[in-house]
Formats: sequence, C-alpha cells, structure tokens
Amino acid sequence: MAHSQSRPFVFIHTTASLDGSIDHSGPERLVLSNATHLAEVDRLRADSDAILIGAGTLRRDNPRLLVYSEKLRELRRSKGQSEFPIKVTCTCSGEIPAGSSFFSAGNGEKIVYCPAPRLEALTRQLGTSAQTVGMGNNVVAPHFILQDLYRRGVRRLMIEGGSSINALFLSSGLVDELWLAIAPLVIGAETAPRLFNPQKLSLPTNLSFQLLSAAALDGLVLARYAVRYV
Ligand SMILES: NC(=O)c1ccc[n+]([C@@H]2O[C@H](COP(=O)([O-])OP(=O)(O)OC[C@H]3O[C@@H](n4cnc5c(N)ncnc54)[C@H](OP(=O)(O)O)[C@@H]3O)[C@@H](O)[C@H]2O)c1
Repeated sequence: MAHSQSRPFVFIHTTASLDGSIDHSGPERLVLSNATHLAEVDRLRADSDAILIGAGTLRRDNPRLLVYSEKLRELRRSKGQSEFPIKVTCTCSGEIPAGSSFFSAGNGEKIVYCPAPRLEALTRQLGTSAQTVGMGNNVVAPHFILQDLYRRGVRRLMIEGGSSINALFLSSGLVDELWLAIAPLVIGAETAPRLFNPQKLSLPTNLSFQLLSAAALDGLVLARYAVRYV
C-alpha cells in the first residue's frame, strides 16, 4: 500500500520481552522468537519491498534479513518482484563492516545511507556490495530516506530495529503501523535495549496507537497497531 505523501507505507516490526527489552546486555545474540513467529516474520518480509535496520543492529546481530521460504520467494518472482526485498541501513559514523551478512546473504539490492561527508570513504570501503547514498551533514533525515526509497519504487517498508531506529522513525511521525511481538520472558537488565531508545525518542504529543489485531503464536503475542499522529 502506498502512502499518500509520496513515501512508502512504513511499519515497524519488533520483538520485545515482557519488560520491554529487545535484547539483553550479554555478548551472545538473544533469541526471543519461536518457529511460528519466525514464519510470520518471513511473510511480513516477503510482503515488503524493502527492510531497514540501523547500523547498531547490523554490527551487533549481523542479521541476514532474507526471505527463507522458497514458496514466498517464488510468489514474489511470480508477481515480477525481486526474489528478496531490498536491504537498507543507515549510519552516521560510517562504521559498516563490509563482511557483514547484510551484504553477503542473498542476491538482492542493498542500500546504505550516510551523511554526505562519509560517502566517499564508505563507497570505497563497500565497493560493489551496496549502493551508498550520502545526504545531510551529520545525520540522515528519516523523511529523506523514505523519499529516496519511494523514488526507487519502494511502496512498503518494514523497519526491523533496533532501539534507536525505532524511536527515530516513530518520533518523526513517519510510521503507519507497529507490529509488536511480546515474548514470554523477562530480561530484567537496566542496560538492555528497549523497544524505543528513550534518549532518541521525543514523542509527539499527538501520538496514539489503535489495536488492529492480536494473535497468539505458540506462546508469543503478536499485536498489530495503527499509529496515528493526530
Ligand atoms: N528484538 C528485536 O526485534 C530486535 C530487532 C533489531 C534489533 N534489536 C536489538 O537492538 C539493538 C540495537 O539497537 P541500537 O539502538 O543500538 O541500534 P540501531 O537502532 O539498530 O542503530 C542505531 C544506529 O543507526 C545509525 N543512525 C541512527 N540515526 C541515524 C540517522 N539519523 N542517520 C544516519 N544513521 C543513523 C547510527 O549508526 P552509527 O553508529 O554507525 O553512526 C546509530 O548508532 C541490538 O541489541 C539488537 O539486538 C532487537
């Protein structure tokens, strides 16, 4: 579904613990999901034109961000879409490890947004593994990313975290839906990343959430909210 303001329809999907953390502070990657939920994530990815993560998630989790179901990939091909959604990330520092699975997994397009002064070095570093786009001086404005993606044909964007990117897009007034999976466990660590990084979140006072649906997925709850800025 296209959005009326020439930007893609944007939804955040994230998985949190009962106490609102999306990771722990330990060294290994935390598994919050289960097979039923992962199948749903696969479907959400397959329905999207692009998937965006922040550079923090890229460095910490090294995710592959693929559509794993052959059937869903075949369905995309039959609709004239690329096998995989475009992978998108953004960085201020330009610290993007070229060997990340983000670049090596899957044959889909990859785009990295960075501030203009970082563009030359990042382009040199990443070579042909991704398209690099420079905009802004120190940060990249979220609406600029969306406009640029829209120009490239992206009509549905899935944001998969992390904490800072979720907060940045939500507080910019640019999110249409939130898909929140709640896993039945407690992390209990003050320093664990939250669903929305409180330091990056300047919540619009007019923000509200309307529950559209909720499903039980083998112990997880997946709630879908419409996000309204009224
Ligand atoms: N449970 C889940 O569903 C889930 C999903 C994803 C991630 N996570 C967790 O989330 C945590 C990571 O969250 P995070 O907040 O550290 O990182 P993040 O939100 O993934 O990425 C933040 C980074 O994005 C870049 N960035 C932010 N604003 C920008 C802007 N305006 N312009 C350009 N670049 C910008 C910066 O990169 P630079 O630092 O390079 O400047 C920033 O440090 C990890 O622990 C991960 O496991 C959980």
